Amino acid sequence: MSTFLFNQDNEEKFSALLERYPDKSSLMLPSLWMVQYQEGWISLDAMQFVAKKLGCSAMDVYSVASFYSMFLLQPIGTHHIQLCKTLSCMLAGSKTLQEHLQNRLGIKAGETTPDGKFTLSLVECLGSCGTAPCMRLNDDYIENLTLEKLDALLEELSK
Ligand code: FES
Repeated sequence: MSTFLFNQDNEEKFSALLERYPDKSSLMLPSLWMVQYQEGWISLDAMQFVAKKLGCSAMDVYSVASFYSMFLLQPIGTHHIQLCKTLSCMLAGSKTLQEHLQNRLGIKAGETTPDGKFTLSLVECLGSCGTAPCMRLNDDYIENLTLEKLDALLEELSK
């Protein structure tokens, strides 16, 4: 039995979307986004809620939520840094950026700083190879990254 509930805004969005989609199962991705924007991540409890809403199994929801790296299955810091580790970014210096980030933040990839401000993740290609190296900062892309650009950004975010 799930204790998670959509807030009123998401409940209204869900009802409105239900009229526009051919069936409930088509609402899987929008529902997961609503959960993530509401809670910051997607818990097993919330997956059970979504499963009940969509009339499918919690395993169906889990299989979708765990497939896409944009869905977060554990709580994260206020600033989620997702550094691309795939070929173009790697050739353009992402490994150096990763080491710099780890040293400055005092954490390894996959960890969150003790103050809860930063989470560092390594992700596959962000589809922005032409402006490598790049990373996502929450919902924004930061491209053509350099150590100087990264330092300026961290200074700003640490205020
Ligand atoms: S390899 Fe980094 S964005 Fe494509």
